[in-house]
Amino acid sequence: MEVTIIHGQGHKGSTYHASAIIKERICGSDTVIHEYFMPKDTPAFCTGCSQCILKGEGKCAQHDKVSRIEESILRSQVLIIDSPTYCFEMTGQLKTLFDHFAYMWMIHRPRKEMFTKIGIVVSTSAGAGHKSVTKSIARQLSWWGVPKIHRVHFSCNASVWENVPEKIREKIIKRAEVVSQKVKGQLGKVKTGIKTRLLFGIMRRVQKSNNWNVADKGHWQQNGWLGKARPWR
Ligand SMILES: Cc1cc2nc3c(=O)[nH]c(=O)nc-3n(C[C@H](O)[C@H](O)[C@H](O)COP(=O)(O)O)c2cc1C
Repeated sequence: MEVTIIHGQGHKGSTYHASAIIKERICGSDTVIHEYFMPKDTPAFCTGCSQCILKGEGKCAQHDKVSRIEESILRSQVLIIDSPTYCFEMTGQLKTLFDHFAYMWMIHRPRKEMFTKIGIVVSTSAGAGHKSVTKSIARQLSWWGVPKIHRVHFSCNASVWENVPEKIREKIIKRAEVVSQKVKGQLGKVKTGIKTRLLFGIMRRVQKSNNWNVADKGHWQQNGWLGKARPWR
C-alpha cells in the first residue's frame, strides 16, 4: 500500500500529531509513505495564467513541484491531508497547493485513479473553525473525484501540542482508532458513490458540449468518458 500525507504546515504541532496518530494506525512496515510539508514542498503561488487549465499542466512554471506531488497522490490508496485552523480556514500554503491542482478538478481533467481512493482530512483549532477547515479540504478532494472522505477535527483548547489536555488527546486517539479501522476495512473495496457519479455525469454533459477547452475535451475523449467508459470501472 502507498499513502500520501500532505501537511498544510511546516511544524510538528497539534495537527501534525493528530495525523501522526492516524498514520501509525493505518501504515504497516511495508507501507510506502510519501510525506510533504507546506510551505517547504509547496510550489510558489499560482500566478493565474490559466495555462495549466487551458493548455496542459506541463505549461505551469511550477510544474516540477506540482507533478512530483501529483505522482505520489496517484500512486496512493490513502491520502491524509491536514491543516491547522487559521482564521477559520486552511493554511494559505495548503490552499496554494490546491490552487495548483485546479486542472484536475472534475470540471477539467480528473484522474481516473482518484475514483477509488480514501481521503482522511484533519484539522485542529484552539477553539473553533476546525470543522470549516475539514469541510473545505474535503470539498477539494471531492472535486478531484475521491469518493470516500473521513473528516477528523478537534478543538485542542490550546495553542501548542504540549499544552493539549489529556482528555482531548484521548479523544483524538479514540477517533483515530475508529477512522483507521474503517479505512482498513475499506481498502481495496472502495465503491464510487452516488454523489461522485452524479457530479461526474453533470461534468460529462458539460464536456460533451465543450468547444472552448481543447485540453479538457481531449482528456475526456482519450479516456472514453464521453462514450461508455467510466473511471470507476
Ligand atoms: C494565524 C493563526 C490563526 C488561527 N486561527 C484560529 C481560528 O480561527 N480558530 C481557532 O480556534 N484557533 C485558531 N488558531 C489556533 C490554531 O488553530 C490552533 O492552536 C491549532 O491547534 C494549531 O495547530 P498546530 O499546532 O498544528 O499549528 C490560529 C493560529 C494561528 C497561528
